[in-house]
Amino acid sequence: MKVDLSNKTALVTGASSGLGRHFAQVLAGQGARVALAARRVAALDELAGEIRTEGGEAFTVALDVRDEESVATAIATIERDFHGIDILVNNSGVSGIKPTLQVTGAEWDDVLDTNLKGAFLVANEVGRAMVRAKRPGSIINIASILGFRITGQLAPYAASKAGLLHLTKSLALDWARYGIRVNAIAPGYFRTDINDDFWDTEPGKAMINRIPQRRLGELENLDGPLLLLASDASAYMTGTTVTVDGGHLVSAL
Ligand SMILES: NC(=O)c1ccc[n+]([C@@H]2O[C@H](COP(=O)([O-])OP(=O)(O)OC[C@H]3O[C@@H](n4cnc5c(N)ncnc54)[C@H](OP(=O)(O)O)[C@@H]3O)[C@@H](O)[C@H]2O)c1
Repeated sequence: MKVDLSNKTALVTGASSGLGRHFAQVLAGQGARVALAARRVAALDELAGEIRTEGGEAFTVALDVRDEESVATAIATIERDFHGIDILVNNSGVSGIKPTLQVTGAEWDDVLDTNLKGAFLVANEVGRAMVRAKRPGSIINIASILGFRITGQLAPYAASKAGLLHLTKSLALDWARYGIRVNAIAPGYFRTDINDDFWDTEPGKAMINRIPQRRLGELENLDGPLLLLASDASAYMTGTTVTVDGGHLVSAL
């Protein structure tokens, strides 16, 4: 089966680094027009330039997912300039590692407002746009295996990702009637800005040793699930989560 995303517009949030940057490149490589969104617009502009150099179509839009007005403005801009959105990769996220006893209310809010409320605001605005345009679509929420199981010092993050998995199911149920599919990818561990410091420490190395495949994920390991969920190859899938973690989630270690 060929994955052809030409004539599709994909919005990738958090495209200024890490997974989101990679997701945008992969979708553009399959012919999608990509809207690159995040707060660091200079990094987005650089990526857009790279995608255009490789023959793809990309444009940038400033977005702070915690800010309802910023979300509405960004989606309206994409709708106006590109006549709608077919695919949303709801990827923006922050981690905030800290001993739980030291976590303040403001720190909790920052993680939950970005990872859960922010994901909801973006999905809801995109959902409204799809319904207005009577256009079917695919929404892919980037969750985490920490939405299923726990590691230390990440209480707000794990709670936000567990919430995102449940939100995925709610939106899938509510929007199936509009032809909007909502699924999630739950990555295990990939080296990006969100965790770069950790992997060369002793606890980081020990964590890698507990992954059944004994390695971190490579960004390319996410391409198959991304393209599956973005395309009609998953036409009868909604409300599901695809885990990409080298077997980490099934291990009791
Ligand atoms: N790396 C992993 O091992 C791993 C594992 C499981 C899940 N994930 C998830 O994958 C997603 C991407 O993470 P990553 O690893 O690629 O980390 P990253 O390199 O730090 O990227 C995070 C992205 O989120 C964006 N972002 C943060 N706050 C935002 C806000 N308020 N508004 C808009 N965008 C915001 C950042 O852009 P700006 O700063 O420019 O706004 C950045 O592009 C996250 O949801 C993360 O939880 C990652």
